[in-house]
Amino acid sequence: MPQKIIILDFGSQTTQLIGRRVRELDTFCEILPYNKYPAGDPDVIGVILSGSPYSVHDPEAFQVALSEFVGRVPVLGICYGAQYIAHQGGGCVERADSREYGRAHLTGIDLADALLQGFEPGSQVWMSHGDTITALPDGCHAIASTADVPFAAYASDAAPLWAVQFHPEVFHTVQGGLLLRNFVVGICGSRQQWSAASFVDTTIEQLRQQLGHDRVILGLSGGVDSSVCAVLLNRAIGDRLTCIFVDHGMLRKDEFRKVMEAYQGMGLNVRGVDASERFFADLAGVTDPERKRKIIGRDFVEVFNAEAARITDARWLAQGTIYPDRIESLNITGGVIKSHHNVGGLPEQMHLRLCEPLQWLFKDEVRRVGRQLGMPGRLIKRHPFPGPGLAVRILGEVTRERVRILQEADDIYIQAMLSYRCDDGEPLYDKVWQAGAILLADVHSVGVMGDERTYEHPVALRAVTSTDAMTADWAHLPYDFLARVSSEIINRVRGVNRVCYDISSKPPATIEWE
Ligand code: XMP
Repeated sequence: MPQKIIILDFGSQTTQLIGRRVRELDTFCEILPYNKYPAGDPDVIGVILSGSPYSVHDPEAFQVALSEFVGRVPVLGICYGAQYIAHQGGGCVERADSREYGRAHLTGIDLADALLQGFEPGSQVWMSHGDTITALPDGCHAIASTADVPFAAYASDAAPLWAVQFHPEVFHTVQGGLLLRNFVVGICGSRQQWSAASFVDTTIEQLRQQLGHDRVILGLSGGVDSSVCAVLLNRAIGDRLTCIFVDHGMLRKDEFRKVMEAYQGMGLNVRGVDASERFFADLAGVTDPERKRKIIGRDFVEVFNAEAARITDARWLAQGTIYPDRIESLNITGGVIKSHHNVGGLPEQMHLRLCEPLQWLFKDEVRRVGRQLGMPGRLIKRHPFPGPGLAVRILGEVTRERVRILQEADDIYIQAMLSYRCDDGEPLYDKVWQAGAILLADVHSVGVMGDERTYEHPVALRAVTSTDAMTADWAHLPYDFLARVSSEIINRVRGVNRVCYDISSKPPATIEWE
């Protein structure tokens, strides 16, 4: 395995961001729960302790045995991590008079210190904590302050140990990237060899060794993760990979055909299965979103399994699982993520072993790997699309006719987004995390077309910006774009006489309407 940084997660919302920043330095890292330090792992070159929603004085605050790594490898404590190290070392952490939140500027920077080399006087940092360190442990010294925080950053005199009470991983800490580079590259000695190219080479080699001459099955969804996974496996084992792509009838307009063509163009061995009859029959009369999801999930698994069972000599099931799907979330806020369908039960039933070559990658890294593999740009930049497809974008019963109406409206919206150029020349589509149309199938509203009164359905347009779909903001789409899409939909899609734009963020709304 490559050199790696371990990030111990104390439940901060920005822990994943720390991981991404480290990966941007072409350095491999693993995010682990605060109490799962991999003692004895020879590849660890440094440890970062994340922030936390807790105070070090809370009875339920997370505790960790610092002696497992302090003094052995370089350590950086961030926010709670900094306060925890101070508290454990005999320093003093107290409730701050006023919550220290937002922008601050560093003073008294020790430019000779390895962590802050290259920092500008007054460098802006981002604070977010209710406690503050009022006395450092013996053997530590301050290396930067702010107007309100005397120990904004400190270092140990003896051990390779640093701590900052601000968040270097967030955008508003202007030199946060430099600080992390100083730590990861300068202090920990990362050779910066984790790149898309090195990932592709080593993974193909590992897959060849792992799979030998075995046959592998993979479920394709048309999405980025499963597609990149398929191409990677195809490079490793060629036609011994069989892909199965199930059409449940609720994909975007012409999507099944177009995606099948793209897959075949990339040389993949794909079996397309049109199972739409069965899905529509089972969804008849169903309006409850979770029931829709369960029916589609169950039918999908059954159709996929039946197809997979025909490949009798398969030994492995490959999945496009990516790192954020796997990070053992501390889930302190109790958030619930909607269940995503997977090929439940198949591995046991067919005695298949699981192969998940993308399991260490973040989404942007999956895209980089796809580019490295020479996959078509449009496929790599595709927006995420829910497994149950348009079924959860039709509010009410799902019928073929309603899917057709929504497909038409959605297609006008998405095609317009692809062709609309922003000021920097990029398509509007690429500025948005995810977009789609929603049909309010049980709602009718009055309109007038020509001389005739109409009584038809509204369509809502949704577009969000996000980095991980856990939180999202509604995209501020240009008015001229919205105006054009609205009139095109109303003029061209029979059954729709009104278009609305959804301006809700997540939370409190979700990205999908159902
Ligand atoms: P929400 O609506 O929970 O969506 O904000 C977050 C992300 O997950 C996708 N999503 C799903 N994906 N099966 C999936 O495979 C599902 O049932 C499902 N529900 C939501 C959604 O499109 C967004 O990217």
